[in-house]
Amino acid sequence: MNTSIAYVICALNEIPSQRARGFHLMRVDDDGVARPWRIVVVRWGRQVFGYVNKCPHDGVNLDWERDQFLDPNGIRLICGKHGALFELGTGRCVDGPCKGQALQPVALHVLDGDICLGGVTLVEDEDDGLDPDAD
Ligand code: FES
Repeated sequence: MNTSIAYVICALNEIPSQRARGFHLMRVDDDGVARPWRIVVVRWGRQVFGYVNKCPHDGVNLDWERDQFLDPNGIRLICGKHGALFELGTGRCVDGPCKGQALQPVALHVLDGDICLGGVTLVEDEDDGLDPDAD
């Protein structure tokens, strides 16, 4: 498996600061099978944080409405099912039924104004307009 490829998820400025957006990707697992992989990307100024969009409590997507990931104050991720709250920078659950557990982090970096994802192999999904960027 080639893990040196960086995939451009979207331009940094496509996500306003202090907002989050979900992406439906297809990841090729170690067994060579491509499976749906949903992630959430949070932007805070020039920083970005990525997590697998899966609540550690019941395993559901966090957003009960598309791209509604943040609490009313915009300072924590919230699960729409039972209201668990997660720190933006660590993914740790600080309140709710899975308190003490954490979202699974996704390694992201910003390169030339784009939010990039590495360390995984993705199948290009035309619906998301995802562009693999092999540099
Ligand atoms: S499923 Fe997320 S808090 Fe219960």
